[in-house]
Amino acid sequence: MTAQLSPVLTRLYGVDRSWTREVYEAHQGYVGLRAALRHTPEEVIQLVKDSGLRGRGGAGFPTGMKWGFIPQGDGAPHYLVVNADESEPGTCKDIPLMMANPHELVEGVIITAYAIRANHAFIYVRGEVAHVYRRVLSAVNEAYRAGYVGPDVLGSGFELQITVHAGAGAYICGEETALLDSLEGRRGQPRLRPPFPAVAGLYGSPTVINNVESIASVPSIMRNGPAWFSAMGTEKSKGMTIYSLSGHVTRPGQYEAPLGVTLRELLEVAGGVREGHELKFWTPGGSSTPILTAEHLDVPLDYEAVGAVGSMLGTKALQIFDETTCVVRAVARWSEFYAHESCGKCTPCREGTYWYVQIFERLENGEGSEDDLDKLLDLSDNIFGRAFCALGDGATSPVTSSIHYFRDEFIAHVRGGGCPFDPAASTVFAMAGSSSELGANP
Ligand SMILES: Cc1cc2nc3c(=O)[nH]c(=O)nc-3n(C[C@H](O)[C@H](O)[C@H](O)COP(=O)(O)O)c2cc1C
Ligand code: SF4
Repeated sequence: MTAQLSPVLTRLYGVDRSWTREVYEAHQGYVGLRAALRHTPEEVIQLVKDSGLRGRGGAGFPTGMKWGFIPQGDGAPHYLVVNADESEPGTCKDIPLMMANPHELVEGVIITAYAIRANHAFIYVRGEVAHVYRRVLSAVNEAYRAGYVGPDVLGSGFELQITVHAGAGAYICGEETALLDSLEGRRGQPRLRPPFPAVAGLYGSPTVINNVESIASVPSIMRNGPAWFSAMGTEKSKGMTIYSLSGHVTRPGQYEAPLGVTLRELLEVAGGVREGHELKFWTPGGSSTPILTAEHLDVPLDYEAVGAVGSMLGTKALQIFDETTCVVRAVARWSEFYAHESCGKCTPCREGTYWYVQIFERLENGEGSEDDLDKLLDLSDNIFGRAFCALGDGATSPVTSSIHYFRDEFIAHVRGGGCPFDPAASTVFAMAGSSSELGANP
């Protein structure tokens, strides 16, 4: 696997006024749409299937196959919903993408809606990022004015309306069925499945829900062909993707590379772990994916290889923690996040995440016992696989994996009467780089 970066989605990062239609068009913008409109919707779905594109929102579900579940020719309204809620701790790829290159997303939306025969698409943007909402809205309006969106897309007879919607800022609204409830004006809580959204989604109609990066990958597949896309990556994880490096790394930011690149290779490009320090642990795909350690530096970052070492590729949010970080403290903070964001619909997650926080508080304050470790694992057992949605499972990942790799550090908290780390020297989180520091074009 090569360490070469492959800027496609990030190719405009750093280009002056990259978010405007003029600049996007000067860099092959809307070429993919014209190519797609020369095909039938069924052919577009087949091209995406052939490319091997898998969803970039976390689960890696094959995108073309998802589109293929939408009934063709049923005469019913179909909807496309773009999941731009991005709230997973450490995940910071969709927001820079929408800020720097919103037209790639808009073009992907038009092609996808055409493929699944949807005449209305929604982009559900995380509520806290008003600037992103404005940027995407402005790109959509530019696309309307250019005739890419509206009653007759580029004279093809295909009609499409796009609505950009701002959520109210809840992590659970990134879960696709909670997102649908929120979009319909209800409290965002996950729905029971089946029926799946492809059968009864938004307003009870067949709906495709895809992540921002998944949809933004579609124009390049139309421009360059599925073989170009599938030539990148590994056997079952095709194409390029955006890895977000944050935390104790010299040059944090977004690094677009073929799937299967390793953390060691990415760190080489990003200047390594901050000077004078060494890697202690890291997340491959945000806080909901089990942590890994320095022994996993050479694991190919694709869906299969990361799964084989007991974690998940998730959102490819690589949060790097060096030896100054107290793992108990880091996991305690994540657990507080899950307890706060638990929607309360099911008991294992609502109660379990609450108890996580109580136990971590005890451990940090030097009031914990060794029995607390068993309690944490027992709670995890009762949440994992028993919660109503994947938020519950995700909450257990940092807890069980940190006890697996760093049991001694937990015990040290018990026997030493609290955190053995010097709070002045210990840091838990560092922010990822801003979009102006993006590492796509080193
Ligand atoms: C608690 C929770 C939060 C999620 N947040 C997001 C999110 O912000 N963005 C996203 O694309 N997917 C998120 N997902 C995954 C979605 O449910 C869904 O799998 C994804 O949007 C499908 O898109 P894809 O097939 O393109 O990956 C979340 C899932 C859970 C359980
Ligand atoms: S797992 Fe948590 S977030 Fe998901 S439905 Fe249950 S309480 Fe709500």
